[in-house]
Amino acid sequence: MKFQDTYGIALKDSNWTIPQNFDACFDWKYDDSRKAMMGLYQKGKEYQWDATTRIDWSQELDPENPQQLPEEMLPIWDMPLYQKMSPKEKANIRLHQQAFGLSQFMQGEQGALICAAKIVTQVPDMDAKFYASTQVIDEARHVEAYKMLLEKFGVVYPMTKPLAELIDQTLRDSRWDFTYLGMQVVIEGLALAAFQQMRDYAQNPLAASVNAYVMQDEARHVAFGRLTLRDYYPQLTEAERSEREEFLIDACWHMRDRFDNRELWEALDLPVEACMQHMADSGAMSNFRSFLFTRIVPIVKDIGLWSPKVREAYAKMGVLNYADTDVEALQQSDDQIAKDFDARRKYVDDTIKAGAKAAE
Ligand SMILES: [Fe+2]
Ligand SMILES: [Fe+2]
Repeated sequence: MKFQDTYGIALKDSNWTIPQNFDACFDWKYDDSRKAMMGLYQKGKEYQWDATTRIDWSQELDPENPQQLPEEMLPIWDMPLYQKMSPKEKANIRLHQQAFGLSQFMQGEQGALICAAKIVTQVPDMDAKFYASTQVIDEARHVEAYKMLLEKFGVVYPMTKPLAELIDQTLRDSRWDFTYLGMQVVIEGLALAAFQQMRDYAQNPLAASVNAYVMQDEARHVAFGRLTLRDYYPQLTEAERSEREEFLIDACWHMRDRFDNRELWEALDLPVEACMQHMADSGAMSNFRSFLFTRIVPIVKDIGLWSPKVREAYAKMGVLNYADTDVEALQQSDDQIAKDFDARRKYVDDTIKAGAKAAE
């Protein structure tokens, strides 16, 4: 069966287009004196990997609970309507809810792929073009890895409306830094926190490893946005910075309040409003919503969009305390965890080989 035939909701169109209005920019200076940017580019080249070989795709998912996640991570787990279901019905909900979440990862990665390619074309400096070109291949690999994982689910979902709106707004703007702000800061910051949940809670080794490896790359992408915007924003006027802050605040509220999984509840034929209400009210979900900001708030502070109105918005969202998160320590830990997955795979492979030799 073709991948496109596994959509759980019928696709309206097989392509999505967003009109673009920007200049393709060449740089004749070829200036490579920004050490941090060139260092990131070097890292981007050294850390390339192949999704088809680094991951052991012979591993299977669990038919009852594909990624082997704690039941409490299902947003409706404590609703009476779910509690009353038979084991088979519950397994079906788990399959679809997990495929739905993972589909948003894959669809968002395609958004990142297109944004990174736009940055290569539009950003004025060569060193940033160099780095962004490594991000293009990283994002292609992420789309590929999540697609391969979704093939094992046998069902995939379209991009949700709220995510499509955020990506549309980010891509439609003709100013180059808005791509960074929308994608590298907000969407990738959000994605990192969501991937982290899967990496740290999925007991299924295949699902956990895909997220660990993707995160190892994503940390560089967020660092790229941070480096570029930290140089650029102090050069803008107060009024120009204020426009960026408004975009940022809107995007953050949108992400916090609009990601309600409506399409999933509809597809599963569950009472949509009741499920959405439950998600909005449950303590676990509100903790998750604020957790999504752990990787965004410290970057926003660092790039200098830290006026009273931004701080006030974050205080209202209850996420201002993340401003002092040590982002570099988090990135080092993301890198180490991915390496630990490599070491485990090597250990398993070596053990199997040794066993086969002993049996000869
Ligand atoms: Fe990515
Ligand atoms: Fe990324």
